[in-house]
Amino acid sequence: MNDPFMLAETAAQSVLQLASLRPQIGLVLGSGLGGFADSLTDATRIPYAEIPTFPLSTAIGHAGQMVIGKAGAVPVAVMQGRVHLYEGYSAQQVAFPMRVFGRMGIRAVILTNAAGGINLNYQKGALVLIRDHINLQGANPLVGPNDDRFGLRFPDMTHAYARSYREMAREEAGKLGMTLHEGVYAALLGPSYETPAEINYLRTIGADLVGMSTAFEVIAARHMGINVLAISCVTNMAAGIVDQPLSHKEVMETGERVKTSFEALLRAVLPRMASE
Ligand code: HPA
Repeated sequence: MNDPFMLAETAAQSVLQLASLRPQIGLVLGSGLGGFADSLTDATRIPYAEIPTFPLSTAIGHAGQMVIGKAGAVPVAVMQGRVHLYEGYSAQQVAFPMRVFGRMGIRAVILTNAAGGINLNYQKGALVLIRDHINLQGANPLVGPNDDRFGLRFPDMTHAYARSYREMAREEAGKLGMTLHEGVYAALLGPSYETPAEINYLRTIGADLVGMSTAFEVIAARHMGINVLAISCVTNMAAGIVDQPLSHKEVMETGERVKTSFEALLRAVLPRMASE
């Protein structure tokens, strides 16, 4: 069986069988940001290896399990770790978990990632709402025959990052006394970090952030009509901005440093998204 719809359906049913909660919102936690999943109550933890056809994460800092539990009163499904194109997975495989969320009945997702800051107004540790993206990964998860059970052949991407969710996040950040920037995320293949020349190019074409994830998930989510909130943590300023080499260690350390405020923001936004 390699019908993507049936594979997503099978994976979704196997997750729902293992958990008693019915998650309303799906979350994906990026590099160094996985801690939020540990704070859920009534949690069921399902290693990706136990979910049929689910892609397994190989990146350091990605735990590789789905946690179904409650954030306050909101039932959520949290992916603690994701897979990337640079791991050798196809765009469809990278987007598969979104389709599983969709078949689980989830209609809203929060996607998080670690990103390099291109916009010079950002600082290491800044949180940035993604307003839009530029997909430079050279692939798209919707390539191939369209399955109308997921969505349309040519999905609109004008409002990919829901304005209402961004407003909620800005309001909640304000109440928490946090600064929340807003910007455009450029998705690149990786796994090498960018060159300074590439960062200058990305700034010229309108990117504020750079990373190696998220865009395919958003495309697959929008294909299914799932609404998206996406937040980047600027774990480092992008290549060439400061005269210092980039490292995954720095990415993980910054994720760790901002995690308290990041988790507080997620907690504040979730009930509002759930009641929309
Ligand atoms: N570039 C690409 N991806 C990243 C970066 C970066 O500087 N930081 C965290 N993820």
